[in-house]
Amino acid sequence: MKDFSWLEVTVASLLFILVIGSLWTRGRNWLDPVFWKRFAIVGSLVMFTFLWILTFDTLSKTRIGTDRVPSPDVINYKITYEYDPQKGYYMPVIHKDKKEPLFGKEVSPQEAMELIIKGKLVIQSRACMNCHTLLGNGAYYAPDLTKAWLDPKWEKIMIPATESETKEEAMVKFLMNPEKYATWTRRMPNLNLSEEEAKAVVAYLKWMSAINTNGFPDHFGESKLAKF
Ligand code: HEC
Repeated sequence: MKDFSWLEVTVASLLFILVIGSLWTRGRNWLDPVFWKRFAIVGSLVMFTFLWILTFDTLSKTRIGTDRVPSPDVINYKITYEYDPQKGYYMPVIHKDKKEPLFGKEVSPQEAMELIIKGKLVIQSRACMNCHTLLGNGAYYAPDLTKAWLDPKWEKIMIPATESETKEEAMVKFLMNPEKYATWTRRMPNLNLSEEEAKAVVAYLKWMSAINTNGFPDHFGESKLAKF
């Protein structure tokens, strides 16, 4: 289906209301209460129909395995964040020709799915959303985690600080001992993650970073830390 912009959808819905409402109230004075009643009914019905269509359209676009939301085995590949001048925002780019398996071990699509489900359960069990946001949902005490995998701070600060070889190793060490590697004025408490749990969280964060979120969060990676 053709992609309509939000403006086209809004104008079309208002136009529908205007046309149907005008036909139904033809010949009535605009001071007649029936005129307004009918417009209220038409407005509600048209808006309900549009929201219904938009809901199902969105659901089909946010399903795993679509253009926007890659399947979990994306964790086998290199992911970068690049500016798209046409769209005017940053997009995660999945380098299908460049393998970068997480923890050096390539996983099957099913293993990847299991890892990500485990990561999600760990995140829910520790209520990470009480401080962080994921895909915009949660609290605003700590950084948004949607693109955390792509945060330049891992390479610039955390790999040296944790004496790690790779980004994923540095992330696991941070997640298991956040109080030891504090970089910000606000500190993350130790949530007693086991190594296995921390690895599953990293898999989840890598997969989540590959989701095209229309450039959300805005100004990601432009913090002072990134310019360190
Ligand atoms: C009590 C609040 C709190 C909770 C709960 C919490 N965090 Fe944090 N987290 C923080 C703060 C504050 C920072 C910034 C710490 C710093 O930079 O020193 C942070 C930083 C992070 C970072 C680094 C993000 C980046 O790009 O800089 C990751 C990843 C992270 N947390 C993951 C998690 C996960 C996963 C959980 C749940 C298992 C969790 N956090 C639970 C407060 C919290």
